[in-house]
Amino acid sequence: MKVLVIGPGGREHALVRSLLDDPFVTEVHAAPGNAGIARDVPVHAVNAQDPAAVVALARELGSSLVVVGPEAPLAAGVVDALQEAGIPAFGPTRAAAQLEASKAFAKEIMAVAEVPTAMARVATNSTEAADALDAFGAPYVVKDDGLAAGKGVVVTDDREAALAHAQECFGAGGSVVIEEFLDGPEVSLFVISDGYHAVPLAPAQDFKRIFDGDEGPNTGGMGAYSPLEWLPAGFVDDVMERVARPTITAMADRGTPFAGVLYCGLALTRRGIRVIEFNARFGDPETQAVLARLKTPLGSLLLAAANGTLDTIEPLTWRSKTAVGVVLASARYPDAPVTGDVITGLDAAAELDGVSVLHAGTALDDDGATVSAGGRVLAVVGLGRDLAGARERAYAGIGKIALEGGQYRTDIALRAAQGGVTIEQEGN
Ligand code: AMP
Ligand code: GLY
Repeated sequence: MKVLVIGPGGREHALVRSLLDDPFVTEVHAAPGNAGIARDVPVHAVNAQDPAAVVALARELGSSLVVVGPEAPLAAGVVDALQEAGIPAFGPTRAAAQLEASKAFAKEIMAVAEVPTAMARVATNSTEAADALDAFGAPYVVKDDGLAAGKGVVVTDDREAALAHAQECFGAGGSVVIEEFLDGPEVSLFVISDGYHAVPLAPAQDFKRIFDGDEGPNTGGMGAYSPLEWLPAGFVDDVMERVARPTITAMADRGTPFAGVLYCGLALTRRGIRVIEFNARFGDPETQAVLARLKTPLGSLLLAAANGTLDTIEPLTWRSKTAVGVVLASARYPDAPVTGDVITGLDAAAELDGVSVLHAGTALDDDGATVSAGGRVLAVVGLGRDLAGARERAYAGIGKIALEGGQYRTDIALRAAQGGVTIEQEGN
């Protein structure tokens, strides 16, 4: 099988690595990729958001499967175009990707499917926004209704800041969703779907804020680990039954079956599981940690999802190891990331036992040096016997890497390693 991976980030580097490990995959290509992906497979300078260009490349390469990583090409209809051209594609159609592209649409589907989520109101002007903020009270949660790569959400106790964010979204011609604050630990569960059948991957936890101790602004994600030993027994089955399957059924019933990854962003609140958000793609950086443990050949799994034959695959198998991924971000990320700085120590890090380096925002400069080219620059994934071992490896790896002004959190998976993640229970 020849696979083409679409996207430029760390998630795509993880997908490429796993596909290279699949004995049924004979060739992997990527577009546009990054400097790290280009060290592993041939990359092609194609605009990932241009459906015709992606179809042309897949034809030229004779791809038997195209895996679309990021949300923007999904929302641009890249999967629709590939399907029309008769090329198997992993990812939802444009209509199904609305589950991520519009938070208001996601809330409608959750209402139809009776999926537990935060109470929410849509606001299109400041008066409506102020009313909604006061209805729910602090902490305030204000979300840009459109695609914002996980960065359009403000959670704050400051009413003025909440209103200012809403105003910014209205200014850009958009609307906002304002909702009740959900307490409790967050979990990302990726559910592979072919539109009708669904298979969960292992749960992961992401660290959204830029600074240690969950301080500072939200980012795309600064680190992740998997599996989550502190989850209650039956958690994944519960999410499948109460969240994933009803959502997939609701999407199929309205004539827009959802095939691809249904990313369930969940909060374990004292009143039970609540959906924080759906995404229509693999999460970044959770994928880097989750795929490090997957033993099942990835290409065959994704092809079954693309072909509507997920019900025929064997149960997934996993390495009995723990994975921790730590993201290195550039100076002044997430506000105004500084790019173009040389990154050193990449090979020294990758040579360590149980350590892999997955690139995100990297490029090669004119001298062939690897330089930063985005906010999140790379992730170092440590695979160990337990959380402590995996953390040790990830941090030993990132310690070898130097980037001017580079930032990373030192507390990824720390609380879980100390047994400090707890779920509040409330009788209901
Ligand atoms: P989203 O883009 O919807 O995933 O939001 C990004 C992050 O904001 C989430 O991962 C949460 O950390 C936080 N967040 C979003 N919605 C809520 C909510 N209703 N209550 C508490 N935190 C939230
Ligand atoms: N890690 C969060 C996301 O991919 O949206």
